[in-house]
Amino acid sequence: MLVCICKGITDKNIEDEIFGGAASFSEIRQSLGLGSCCGQCTSYAKDLISTTMTQLQLSTNTQLAYEVKC
Ligand code: FES
Repeated sequence: MLVCICKGITDKNIEDEIFGGAASFSEIRQSLGLGSCCGQCTSYAKDLISTTMTQLQLSTNTQLAYEVKC
């Protein structure tokens, strides 16, 4: 899904940045230009980044718990 119309940035682009190590809206803004034109996408993009980072943390914690058990 297209998140930033001005820069043609999709949710997949943002997720790829997070899985690649980006840890904040600012980092993704710097690397992709997200929200750097009209700014209309900023609120939604921040929510998406927060949700994706939470999911990544839960996934990592679950994986670590599994590794400790086994
Ligand atoms: S829609 Fe993202 S900067 Fe305009």
